Amino acid sequence: MSEPLVLGIESTCDETGVALVRGRELLVDVTASSMDEHARFGGIVPEVASRAHLEAFGPTLDAALDRAGVALGDVDAVAVAAGPGLVGSLTVGAAAAKALALALDRPLYGVNHVVGHVAVDELVHGPFPDRFVGLVVSGGHSSLLRVGDIATDVTELGQTLDDAAGEAFDKVGRLLGLPYPGGPHVDRLAQQGDPGAIPFPRGLSSGRDKDRYAYDFSFSGLKTAVARYVESCQDRGLDVPAADVAASFSEAVNDVLTRKALAACTANDCETLVIGGGFSANSRLRELAAQRAAEHGITVRIPPIRYCTDNGAMIAALGSAVARAALPPSTLDITVDSGMPLTQVLAA
Ligand code: KG4
Ligand code: ZN
Repeated sequence: MSEPLVLGIESTCDETGVALVRGRELLVDVTASSMDEHARFGGIVPEVASRAHLEAFGPTLDAALDRAGVALGDVDAVAVAAGPGLVGSLTVGAAAAKALALALDRPLYGVNHVVGHVAVDELVHGPFPDRFVGLVVSGGHSSLLRVGDIATDVTELGQTLDDAAGEAFDKVGRLLGLPYPGGPHVDRLAQQGDPGAIPFPRGLSSGRDKDRYAYDFSFSGLKTAVARYVESCQDRGLDVPAADVAASFSEAVNDVLTRKALAACTANDCETLVIGGGFSANSRLRELAAQRAAEHGITVRIPPIRYCTDNGAMIAALGSAVARAALPPSTLDITVDSGMPLTQVLAA
């Protein structure tokens, strides 16, 4: 018998995603984004995002079914991101998923969005090895995970204690007068600068912090150091060397991310590192990860960027893995959880 057809629904932040996955095969993935509505505010406005999900969900679902040539009645299970994320946005997706599961009389899987960022890689690069390390980096998360079975065995090794990597890039983008979201702009500018020009700090990477927070990240001190550097140039009437600032800042972030991710691989006897989340578009992260992984004999798997930013395929992929593991479905009265722990793959 073929594996169940899983409908995946994503609505944790500003993307409304709907996808269909059978086993590890992606049939369709449709995303609507409300980013344009937030750009003028310089950040995501939760109320605007929730309303946009409500408006986008129906058309996105219809488009996905239409493109896959699938009728709603053919869906065997409904997976939805139950957290972490913005409560209002999560609620819209969860309400839609519950209504569909109830109307179709199919199982509901309320799954973890961050774990989904890792799970999606199976759709691209095939089954996971027995164990691996996952690095999830985006505007909202910077987490290191140790994964045995993606559905049943996920351990959180560490996470950011303050800003996420993408968030730090967005803040530095603002300091340098770049448009929101600043991440991709800082990345492009960094490619023209000298990464060794300014010795910005590497958070939680030396002394006692290095042992105590081996797999945690902190980027707020770095962001403050960049702000001080920019101010000191301005105070002295000097031009800010923006490309060198961007390159040195980017190097500090990516040096720490890759160093800790590879240390986690070595310490946990893992030969594979899977990287996901919108920040994995960063050119220096990709370069450094590839270079350092090769030095350690570790394989790096990064899905194409459209599956790294928030999407429905990641939720359908994790729902499919959970169904494969034959876990009992979530109940229809699950609540969404803005702070859903990474060890909880499935809401009970
Ligand atoms: O996963 P994502 O689309 O949304 C969530 O945060 O969940 O990630 C977007 C984040 C933003 O902070 C954006 O500025 C950052 O990832 N980003 C980048 C790059 N592309 C996107 N940061 C640095 N370099 C990039 N090339
Ligand atoms: Zn995300």
